[in-house]
Amino acid sequence: MLRIARTDDVLDLGCGTGHLAQEVRVLTDGRVVGIDLSPEMIEMARGAAPPDVEFLTAAAEDLDMPETFDAIICNSAFQWFTDVPGALANCFAALRHGGRMALQAPAHREYCPQFLRAVRMLAGDRRTARTWDRFRSPWTFYETAEEYSRLFAAAGFDVVAAEVEELREHTTPERALEMFESGRRPATSTRAATTCPGPWGIPRRRGSSS
Ligand SMILES: C[S@@+](CC[C@H](N)C(=O)[O-])C[C@H]1O[C@@H](n2cnc3c(N)ncnc32)[C@H](O)[C@@H]1O
Repeated sequence: MLRIARTDDVLDLGCGTGHLAQEVRVLTDGRVVGIDLSPEMIEMARGAAPPDVEFLTAAAEDLDMPETFDAIICNSAFQWFTDVPGALANCFAALRHGGRMALQAPAHREYCPQFLRAVRMLAGDRRTARTWDRFRSPWTFYETAEEYSRLFAAAGFDVVAAEVEELREHTTPERALEMFESGRRPATSTRAATTCPGPWGIPRRRGSSS
């Protein structure tokens, strides 16, 4: 969607264990930077990625890298942001003229109903309650694509696509545990938990020609 070019400098915001940053690495010869609030996630990302992918521990709300990137991707992290207008303003400022940003985040508070039901059951069972006492569901949700568009427009972006997509995925318990183990432990120790896909779009800077 972002049509990453060979010379693009790219930020993966809320990069988690850095798998997207690694995918971006093969698409561009430019700078690839992953940023995440969680030092544990950054440690895992550094351990897994090639040395020419940079990783920094920081919150989107504190991002201060003016006119540094041509593209920003933010996959399943937005729902944890505490200051959405501030974070989006930082993203806008971090892009060069003509820069693009793509975001994917769960749209609805009941973002993954079966998962949330399972969590409630585990938290209510004395055998598993202690394991789940730190779980917090994400808090930043907008229910429509229009609301996402308005937020990006308010930060200065020219929104070229925004939609809410309903996805249903059936998976085995083993695969669910594997996904959970791959990044949830460090995430829950900060402010994050887990996610399901929801809306996506390409907010683009005003005046961008690509
Ligand atoms: C569900 S994970 C997604 C990770 C990665 N983008 C991916 O697609 O696998 C959400 C990540 O967002 C990070 N995060 C939460 N709040 C953040 C913030 N305010 N600024 C930067 N990263 C944040 C969490 O630490 C976590 O690693």
